[in-house]
Amino acid sequence: MRFYSAYASSCLLLAPAWAFPALPQASVITPSGPPGSSGSLRGPQSLLGNNPSIAVPTEPSTVIPPEDFELAPGQTEDTDLGVYIDLSKVKNPQPIRGDPTSPTDPGPRTQAYDRLNSDLYIPPGTDAGDAPNAKWPFGLSHNRHGLAGSGWARQQNVDQLPVAKAMAGVNMRLSPNAYRELHWHKASEWALMLNGSVRIQAVNEQGQTFVDDMTAGDVWFFPRGVPHSIQALENGCEFLLVFDDGEFSEDETFLVSELLERNPETVVAKNFRTSTQTFNKLPDGQLWIFPGTPPPKNIQEQNVTGPAGTIPQQESYSYHLSQQEPYRVPGGSIKIIDPATFPIAKQFSAALVTVEPGAMREMHWHTTSDEWTYFLQGSARLTVYQAPAASRTFDFSAGDVGYVPVPNAHYLENTGSEPLVFLEVLLADTYSDISVNQWLGLTPAQIVKDHLNVDDAFVSTLPKTEPFIMPGNRNLSTTNFTETVE
Ligand SMILES: *[C@@H]1O[C@H](CO)[C@@H](O)[C@H](O)[C@H]1NC(C)=O
Ligand SMILES: *[C@@H]1O[C@H](CO)[C@@H](O)[C@H](O)[C@H]1NC(C)=O
Ligand SMILES: *[C@@H]1O[C@H](CO)[C@@H](O)[C@H](O)[C@H]1NC(C)=O
Ligand SMILES: *[C@@H]1O[C@H](CO)[C@@H](O)[C@H](O)[C@H]1NC(C)=O
Repeated sequence: MRFYSAYASSCLLLAPAWAFPALPQASVITPSGPPGSSGSLRGPQSLLGNNPSIAVPTEPSTVIPPEDFELAPGQTEDTDLGVYIDLSKVKNPQPIRGDPTSPTDPGPRTQAYDRLNSDLYIPPGTDAGDAPNAKWPFGLSHNRHGLAGSGWARQQNVDQLPVAKAMAGVNMRLSPNAYRELHWHKASEWALMLNGSVRIQAVNEQGQTFVDDMTAGDVWFFPRGVPHSIQALENGCEFLLVFDDGEFSEDETFLVSELLERNPETVVAKNFRTSTQTFNKLPDGQLWIFPGTPPPKNIQEQNVTGPAGTIPQQESYSYHLSQQEPYRVPGGSIKIIDPATFPIAKQFSAALVTVEPGAMREMHWHTTSDEWTYFLQGSARLTVYQAPAASRTFDFSAGDVGYVPVPNAHYLENTGSEPLVFLEVLLADTYSDISVNQWLGLTPAQIVKDHLNVDDAFVSTLPKTEPFIMPGNRNLSTTNFTETVE
């Protein structure tokens, strides 16, 4: 022990025993590092294994005694029931499902991950095989900060979620009056306002102009290549961007500042028929997100038009989805926005869904597009079923991204006590899905019975219209949903 420094000794209290073993007798230790260092970086060759003279000590039991942890409701139910296990409040949660004597987890571990992802930590018995990761929390993304406290943005693309090849997302915050710099990009941009209000502005190929103010719940769309700016109004804002390219990067957009800085100064002067002096005060480096002067309250003052006029309303880049009445069904409500009502956003179809506690967005799949999902409120789980025999269950909460490749089947179950609100985005001309309820409800009863060995009474309950959401029960251990409680 005499070689340990004071620092190393204090580490002994925190580090596992094997990190600082008693030094082998035979080893020759020659401290050669800086003052205060001791020991040697490598051990002696005599520690090589398959050597009967090395005695391995008997370790104490690794089993965590039952009095040192708590089980959550449902943890000892049959594994194939796969009831949702809420680990958020139990002491020292353990990966037990079904058999209460199944192995405990002595660590190392970070309990916060296990509590948030109980279906990964303790999968339902029905999960099988290998299905690609379907979850990325924006909370694990690098957050890039703008100039002088003007905002931030973090992204999810194939670097974070490799399965998400068709779509990528950005979560952006702008301080009061701050700008997202005038820019354009290779991918098309679909956006949902999450909080606050913002003014957006663009010019298209015909020289038609566009300006509008957006508030929480509204949607905008900028086709690929169309230059636009985004400026927060007086209370700042936060929004979500979805791009039709999984490789999109917020760090690789085309910026007006860089456009002028990356061309010869004489060319820039010639282009505008001015002197190079005009651009003496160009910003040094990109602006990206930066503080702005307050926009005029009256939007008409920023309604610039040329001979081509404004972008016709039919082709508007915005849709005030916040003012759309939701379609209500037992267990929740839905707002669909797709090119049927927002024609410029070709290929972008979305549903903003609210699911009451205990209820579930029913089992379904999409026929032509992957699904990019964002969770605005509450908590949920989703199982991806992938042909022929794989499935995996993931848990989500506010600020997470989910991704389900076409045509994998999935559901979204509210696993919390508050309404679940999430956004489904498809790259499709129409928002559509195949409802498992309606599919079987419109299949001849005999065929359903021959496949599933169910009785006539059950088949007669299958709906012929799409329910979207199925009411459930706030008690997530319930097994009989014949009479559902909203
Ligand atoms: C916006 O953020 C504020 C501050 O956190 C919050 O009180 C408010 O509910 C949010 N609004 C919406 C629409 O989420
Ligand atoms: C801008 O002005 C045009 C008419 O020139 C009008 O059609 C359009 O609605 C105006 N935009 C806004 C946001 O008021
Ligand atoms: C929830 O349902 C399970 C299964 O029916 C039952 O054992 C349990 O007592 C219920 N819990 C509550 C809080 O009602
Ligand atoms: C399920 O609940 C319904 C309604 O309470 C009841 O009629 C039925 O017998 C129950 N089914 C089973 C298998 O317990």
